[in-house]
This record gives sequence, structure tokens and C-alpha cells, in this order.
Amino acid sequence: MDSATIGRASKALVYAVGMFAIGAFVRFVYRGYKVRMRIQSLRAQGIPTLPHSLIFGHILILLKFHKEYPGDVHFGIILSWLVDNCKKWIPDLDDTPPVLYLDIWPIFPDIMMMVLDCNLSAQFTQIRSLPKHPITRTFLEPLTDNLDMTSADGAQSKVWRSRFNPSFSPRNITRVIPELIDEILVFKELLGELAGSEESWGEVFQMEELTTNLTFDVILRATLDERLHEQTNPGGSPLKRALIIQIQLMSKVIGINRILGIKRWPWEMWSRHRNNQALRYALLGRVEAVIKSGLVAEPITEKQNILNIALARTLKETGGRAPDQQSVDAILANLKLFLFAGHDTTSSTICWMLKLLQDNPDCLSQLRAEHDRILGADPKQAARLLRESPQLLNSLPYTNGVVKETLRFYPLASTVRQGERDFFLHAPGTGTRYPTEGMAIHDVPSVIQLDPRVWPRATEFLPERWLAGPGNPMHPNKDAWRPFSMGPRNCIGMELAMVEIKLVAALVCREFDVGEAWEEWDSKRSVKGQGNTVDGERLYGCGQTVQHPKDGMPVHVRRR
Ligand code: HEM
Ligand SMILES: *[C@@H]1O[C@H](CO)[C@@H](O)[C@H](O)[C@H]1NC(C)=O
Ligand SMILES: *[C@@H]1O[C@H](CO)[C@@H](O)[C@H](O)[C@H]1NC(C)=O
Ligand SMILES: *[C@@H]1O[C@H](CO)[C@@H](O)[C@H](O)[C@H]1NC(C)=O
Repeated sequence: MDSATIGRASKALVYAVGMFAIGAFVRFVYRGYKVRMRIQSLRAQGIPTLPHSLIFGHILILLKFHKEYPGDVHFGIILSWLVDNCKKWIPDLDDTPPVLYLDIWPIFPDIMMMVLDCNLSAQFTQIRSLPKHPITRTFLEPLTDNLDMTSADGAQSKVWRSRFNPSFSPRNITRVIPELIDEILVFKELLGELAGSEESWGEVFQMEELTTNLTFDVILRATLDERLHEQTNPGGSPLKRALIIQIQLMSKVIGINRILGIKRWPWEMWSRHRNNQALRYALLGRVEAVIKSGLVAEPITEKQNILNIALARTLKETGGRAPDQQSVDAILANLKLFLFAGHDTTSSTICWMLKLLQDNPDCLSQLRAEHDRILGADPKQAARLLRESPQLLNSLPYTNGVVKETLRFYPLASTVRQGERDFFLHAPGTGTRYPTEGMAIHDVPSVIQLDPRVWPRATEFLPERWLAGPGNPMHPNKDAWRPFSMGPRNCIGMELAMVEIKLVAALVCREFDVGEAWEEWDSKRSVKGQGNTVDGERLYGCGQTVQHPKDGMPVHVRRR
């Protein structure tokens, strides 16, 4: 090649790159323009909207929020603040609107349609169940290649959801209670080691580390009847390590690369590959071999874990033929989904429950009294009793109320669905129609579950409201409690999570006091000055996806 050819080639290359960049930029600006104009058009239709800038959308409002609040607060807190303040920005409102549209493009690619009224939530999750928003697919892809039930296409998703549904039924979850108790007793033992001697407080530690290791052990035990020993293995298992790194990677769905139209950076692809290899090596390779060996029929009758029940169901549907590679891949993808969805949600909820019980000592006393009544006066006997009669867990209505109130105050996650052209949400009463086309429809339990129009004494932690029968003014509206979302695409693991958290309450709360320990925590890390607070609380919700307790909830513990 002579130098003239090289010169021409490099000119052509520069030209091509330049054209690509200009093309990307034009596409970017056009997309932004379209999103911004949608809000203007909503306003023209008389739908109340927050003050909107053609250049910044609603981003300026969020900046205002971040002036008043710490930078790491969870998105749910931002939404509550928006709702509390929206009359300031939309003066002609009589009341909280049932829907608020939020345009923070390009931070989020579509307009976010925030649904703040459970009547409207029911319209897109229960009366009709709209498909999950594409962001769910993007989010899960590194973990599962979108072969899992949440992000697979409609038909595949239905098949696998229905094959796994029976595994998670209340009756079948009750059968794994003895195994769950094994894992929770390890947790209790660790608390005992960290507790001070003779009723004095022990050293400060981060509760969430313990509960996360616990929920890892539980989810593996429940799905595969495998013991991971995460709670007692100081190095941590390769399985957990790989999954945690993968989740951190997945959380980066929103970033500069998305603006440029690049799904993931190349180094992220490499890391993703390595993590999936590690997951396969640590566990899934072995599971795959068992499924393929055709020996699955045997253990099914003995061990009623989540995988085996679903395998039995699959075999029945395929006339006993061993699953093909495609099915094996889908099963493994779903197991990864369960490990992902089942651990940090439940572990954070346990932390929030312990916090609320600390803050409401009367409720803690009532909880303990119920355990004394139903599980015997000697707390040491509770595990044996529950192992022998797992259905006793259904005779603890106050405990059930404590968990439900916890999830009312601290919903950890929520559903995001994709709007459609001819689909509108209707506000009962006013008759206003809210367009959904091109919108990411967010159910907002953090607002709905504290709505004073629906919940009497909404801001009080009152487990007894869950004991109030129909006709009683305290009787909860069932659609207004939606921490697991609702309808056919709600949380498949709801029963497992509820059982796990109730077991923790039943086995732990009578033997220990748990208290937040910020002073010790600050002095241990030699932090100077006042720590961040939200509404006066050091322990506030953080995180990009699931709402985690700040700093992993520093606590100390003492035996009672
Ligand atoms: C307190 C604990 C939990 C909370 C608050 C919670 C919450 C939720 C929510 C709000 C959804 C709907 C998400 C969406 O529509 O995009 C969901 C879905 C899901 N959850 Fe949970 N979850 C919890 C525990 C669990 C556990 C223990 C598992 C174990 C398997 C699990 C597995 C799943 C799965 C597989 C889905 C997707 C279902 C589908 O796409 O059809 N979750 N969860
Ligand atoms: C929503 O409101 C309408 C009209 O008031 C009512 O008929 C309907 O039962 C409500 N639906 C739910 C799920 O609350
Ligand atoms: C529980 O699991 C069995 C298989 O062991 C299954 O046949 C049954 O349908 C499941 N129960 C429910 C209520 O789904
Ligand atoms: C539990 O989890 C934390 C991090 O989440 C880890 O540092 C710790 O080593 C784990 N294992 C034990 C036995 O505490």
C-alpha cells in the first residue's frame, strides 16, 4: 500500500467516525426533544404536571431535592418528597394527583409515569397485567441472557412462571420450614457471639452483613437443598462473590454509554462473562449435570425443594422426556434469578423489621407475648416446636402484622411496566384519562402504602391493623399493600420471604435486644461531625435498586 492509499483510507475513517458521531448526536437530540414535547402535550390536555423545562425536563426539581437530602437516598424517598411538595409546584391541585409524570431524560430513557393511587395501580397490574418495561430486560441480561421468567419473551415467560408457581405455593413452602430453621439457628448463634455478656451491649457490627449471608443460605437451601455455609465461611463463597459483582454491574443500566446507544462497555462484557463462569463452576454446572443425567425423577419424590417440584412439573408437561438444552438453560437462568431476587430484598426487610421493633417497644412486647403464648414460654424450645409443627407459623397473626407493617413502611422494590398506545389509566371520580404510550409506568408503593386517605393513622406502626376484620375502619384495603406488586406477574417468592422473615422474628426476638449504634459506629470509623440524616433518622434507605439500610445498619445486641 502506498502512502496515498493510507492517507485516503485514514481520511475515510475519520469521515466515517465523524458521520457516526454526528448521527448519534442528532438521534440523541431528536429523542430528547420528543420526550420533552410529550410533557408539553400532556399539559395541553389539562393533565397536571410539575414545572418543566424544555432543556432540563424535571431534572432541576431533582437537583432541588438533592440540596436538601443526602446523595445516596433511595429513589422511593425522592418520590415521597415530590408528592409532599407537589402542591407547591402545581397550585391548583386540591389533593395529591393519582399520577405524576417525571421527565428526567437522558438519566432515564422514557418518561416515568408515577402511579400514586392503588386503584390505578390495579388497572395495569391486576385488571390488566402490562408487560414489564424493557429496562427490566436490559437489567437482567448480564445475569441470565434474558432466558429467565421475568425478562424472557411473553410465551416463554408464561411457561416458566407457571412451571415454577407450584414450588412457591404456601403449602410447598411450609414443607421447607425445617430446613429454613437450620439456617436461621446459625444466624441466632452468630448474634449470640456478638451479643455482650450479662445483658450489656456487645460490639457494633453491620446487621445487613449477617442477614445477607443468612438469606443466601436460605435461598440455596429452599431452591436446591444445598448448604452454602455463607454465614460461617469467613472468606465468603465464590458463588456469592460472583453474584454480588454481577449485580453491581447490572445496576449500571443508566449511564453515559446508554446515551451513546452502547448497551454495555467492552470491559463490562468481559467481567460479565467471568462472573457467569464462576457461577457455573461454583454450582450451576453441577445442577446442570444432574438435570441432564435423567436421574431427576428419583430425588423429586424425596426432596421437595423448589427446583425439584418445577422439574417434576416440566417432565409431566413434556411427557417424561429429559429437558433439552434450551430448557436446561432456562432452568439455570431462573435459578440465578431466584438467587438474585431472593437475597437482598429479604435481608433488608429483616433489618427494617428489627429497626421498627426497636423504635416501637410496645409492639416488640406484644410480639414476644404472642411467641410466649403460641411457641411456649421457653424460647429455646421454639425451633423444635416449629420444626415439628411448621403450620404453627400460621398461628402468629401479630407477627404476621409486624412483617406486613414493616413492608408497608419500607417497600424495597417495585414494578415498572411498559405503556401502550390505546391504554389509559382512569382516575375514579374525576374521569381524567392518563395516557401510557411510550411511558415507563412505575407502581409507587412508598407513596401508596402511606396514603392517609386509605390508611387510618397511616404514619403509625400498628401491627394490629392486620388483625382488624372487614367492617372495622382499620381493616386494610388489600390493593393498597403492594410491596410484592400484585397480579399474575407479582413476586413469585412472596410466601418464601414472608415465612423466612416470620421465622426470624419467632426465633430471635425473644432472646435478644437489637439497637442502632451510631455513636460507636462513628467513633470506630473516626467520622467527624454530624452524619447524614433523612427526616431526623440516621438509618435511612439507600441504594440504586433495592432499598438498603444506610451503612448496612450498624447495631449492637444484648441477650435478654
Ligand atoms: C421481602 C422480600 C421481597 C420483596 C419485597 C420482593 C418484591 C418483589 C417485587 C416488587 C416484584 C415485582 C417486580 C417487577 O414486577 O418488576 C418481585 C418479583 C419477583 N420476585 Fe420478589 N421480592 C421479595 C423476595 C423474593 C424472594 C425470596 C424470591 C425468591 C425466589 C423472589 C423472586 C422474585 C421473582 C422471580 C420475581 C419476578 C416474577 C415475574 O417476573 O413473574 N422475591 N419481587
Ligand atoms: C376503583 O374505583 C372504581 C370507581 O370508584 C371502583 O368501582 C373500583 O372497584 C375501584 N377498583 C379498585 C381495584 O380499587
Ligand atoms: C406442591 O408440590 C407438588 C409436587 O411435589 C405439586 O404437585 C403441587 O401441585 C404443589 N402444590 C401446590 C399447592 O401448588
Ligand atoms: C458475610 O458477609 C459479609 C459481607 O456481606 C462478609 O464480609 C463476611 O465475611 C461474610 N461471612 C461471615 C462468616 O461473616
